[in-house]
Amino acid sequence: MNILMLLTPKKDVRFLTTNLTIAEALTILKIVRYNSVPLLDKDGYYVGTITEGDLLWYLEENGLEFASTRKLRAVRRNRDYAPVTINASMEDLIKTSLGQNFIPILDDRNYFIGIVTRKDLLSDFINKFSQKTEVIKENPILNALYKRRSIRKFKKKPVSQEVVNEILNVALISPSAGNRRPQHVVFVNDLAKIKELSVLHQKGGQFENASNLILILNDDEKEPNVYNALSNSSALLFSMLLAIDSYENLGGFWIATRNDEHNKKILNFLGVPSNFTLYGMIAFGIKGEYKGANEAVNIEKIHQNGW
Ligand SMILES: Cc1cc2nc3c(=O)[nH]c(=O)nc-3n(C[C@H](O)[C@H](O)[C@H](O)COP(=O)(O)O)c2cc1C
Repeated sequence: MNILMLLTPKKDVRFLTTNLTIAEALTILKIVRYNSVPLLDKDGYYVGTITEGDLLWYLEENGLEFASTRKLRAVRRNRDYAPVTINASMEDLIKTSLGQNFIPILDDRNYFIGIVTRKDLLSDFINKFSQKTEVIKENPILNALYKRRSIRKFKKKPVSQEVVNEILNVALISPSAGNRRPQHVVFVNDLAKIKELSVLHQKGGQFENASNLILILNDDEKEPNVYNALSNSSALLFSMLLAIDSYENLGGFWIATRNDEHNKKILNFLGVPSNFTLYGMIAFGIKGEYKGANEAVNIEKIHQNGW
């Protein structure tokens, strides 16, 4: 961003010059209805900021008869707005704007070339912020979704309980149909138990090397509708996968649990009450493999306002 883009050029700025009388200045300010304006010398250099108040105080202290003879250069100014040069950074411009309504802009010879108003500066920020493409670049949730991959190889290092708790707590805030919150999770990090569970699973052995396992369970008494139970569990499972992915060195994958007979053995092994059904599992741990982001292909699969 360049200051020039925000500049109100000198030709469009209401300013006063030091050789004007106080009466002339008051007449101009009355017409333009600005309370404070830049004050320039006869050569066009920025001198300071003059306000109606400065002029009125001068007359109050010195007498009205001076209005038509005294020049602005004689008037004591309460406060001069700080100028910046055209090469200043946006940061300097913004910092300077915090305490004043406009910022006088000078060229590299200190010649006054215009102003940037605080209003224009703020409007520019609001415009930028409301442009979606600008926001997406900074959007951590979209970034996480776009870079997410299934990670199935893990290092043999434990994940701290503090991090595990952060991930497990997602279960307590996940959306559910009718907000009935029928899900429970069982977390397993006992390696011997994980090995046993991987044998009991329908696709034996696929998560035997994981150091952490989460089982997602539906309380069938609280949520008897299978469609809701499946949807709730999928939302929860995916939220947890994203939570895992949000840690740079962690990864995990979704484990389907499609076989009732095997699922029952798993739940028995863990002592889960009989009114719970298993709807999926996650194996996760310290990443032992790195994968690039998926490419968004087959754009024709996205339909709008009909097929
Ligand atoms: C409902 C569902 C069930 C899945 N079941 C398994 C599974 O049992 N074992 C496995 O290794 N991956 C499983 N996955 C992960 C998919 O294989 C994986 O998401 C897909 O191949 C795309 O790879 P990516 O996740 O790296 O983008 C499952 C994913 C979903 C959504």
